[in-house]
Amino acid sequence: MSTGAITCKAAVAWGPGEPLVIEEVLVDPPKPMEIRIKVVCTSLCRSDVTQWESKGQPAIFPRIFGHEASGIVESIGEGVSEFEVGDHVLTLFTGECKTCKHCVSEKSNMCQALGLERKGVMHSDQMTRFSIKGKPVFHYCAVSSFSEYTVVHSGCAVKISKTAPMDRVCLLSCGVAAGLGAVWKVTNVFKGSKVVIFGLGTVGLSAALGAKLREASQIIGVDTNPQKFEKGKAFGITDFINPEDCSEPIFQVIKQMTDGGADFSFECVGETEVVSTALKSCSDGWGVTVTLGVPKTNPEISAHYGLLLSGRTLKGSLYGGWKPKSDLPLLVDKLLRKEITVDDLVTHDIPFDDINEAFRLMKEGKCLRCVIHMAK
Ligand SMILES: NC(=O)c1ccc[n+]([C@@H]2O[C@H](COP(=O)([O-])OP(=O)(O)OC[C@H]3O[C@@H](n4cnc5c(N)ncnc54)[C@H](O)[C@@H]3O)[C@@H](O)[C@H]2O)c1
Ligand SMILES: [Zn+2]
Ligand SMILES: [Zn+2]
Repeated sequence: MSTGAITCKAAVAWGPGEPLVIEEVLVDPPKPMEIRIKVVCTSLCRSDVTQWESKGQPAIFPRIFGHEASGIVESIGEGVSEFEVGDHVLTLFTGECKTCKHCVSEKSNMCQALGLERKGVMHSDQMTRFSIKGKPVFHYCAVSSFSEYTVVHSGCAVKISKTAPMDRVCLLSCGVAAGLGAVWKVTNVFKGSKVVIFGLGTVGLSAALGAKLREASQIIGVDTNPQKFEKGKAFGITDFINPEDCSEPIFQVIKQMTDGGADFSFECVGETEVVSTALKSCSDGWGVTVTLGVPKTNPEISAHYGLLLSGRTLKGSLYGGWKPKSDLPLLVDKLLRKEITVDDLVTHDIPFDDINEAFRLMKEGKCLRCVIHMAK
């Protein structure tokens, strides 16, 4: 059913931190249970930048990054009955096979067959579907959306309504879902909660929006970039702390502001020292800290054991704890019903040829999400 290989443009990273180069790549047809997608829009997430810099992560190059994307099914591999050519889809950087121990458990979204892929290859055969002059080009999270066409496992995409705006709904395929899920699914922020959010990027602001919709009474935003406060107000941030302006430790400032500590704290930065601060900032007895960030360098978390003995909980979550295929359509419906909005998170719309501009803006802290439009 699928056609042959396609030659198309892809933004290839040749080495850590090196500007991407738009290259002609060969994209193989989808193998059994895979689909090939024409990418329509893809937004840049901090995780792409962290992995591209490869300071604390293995350096796998040449590679095609991108994992937050919307697209249209171009061809389908053998055995795929769930998708048809022309379906609109979101890519999933962590998939759902629906049959493994984790997929059948209510408690987990850590699919054992299609979970986060770290080696730069496809789950099914450990090979790549991209090549340049016969040499393989590695994938990222088995999605690689910085290419006009990409191949994903059918368990790593979800069909969405054709009425969803492709240039905005792509944000739900990673950052927004991660932030909302941390608040709605991993924890259960309740009416009147006191919440602290470290890092007011797309992930942190989505967590703030989730807390606002749950009617949290106080949502403290902590960010080293003072420009984030004004933006944060629209997402429900009630108080702002810039750690660089504090003469005392931030956790003490938060304890004073919250009468002993927050009910919930969320780490949305990607610094393990911030995880420790977030844990210290929540209340004895019931405080819950959720770490979402992907550390840029030091991966070890350190915390005094007394913080846990006194009743705090430290949790982490990938993709907001959502089961990606089962739960994402619910979030898309919320977007279509305007119960949630992502428009204010898009600060730039960028043509594919200018993709390096998106990397520059994110590195310099000058954007939330840059949406990259694949077609001119
Ligand atoms: N767990 C998941 O499923 C998931 C999904 C998407 C992204 N992430 C990770 O979440 C983190 C946030 O992603 P994003 O796309 O919102 O990133 P972002 O870069 O847009 O936002 C990070 C924010 O943190 C702020 N910051 C930096 N250092 C700080 C510090 N020491 N204290 C307080 N604030 C600080 C920055 O100014 C920025 O506003 C990243 O680590 C990313 O890799 C995780
Ligand atoms: Zn992401
Ligand atoms: Zn599974």
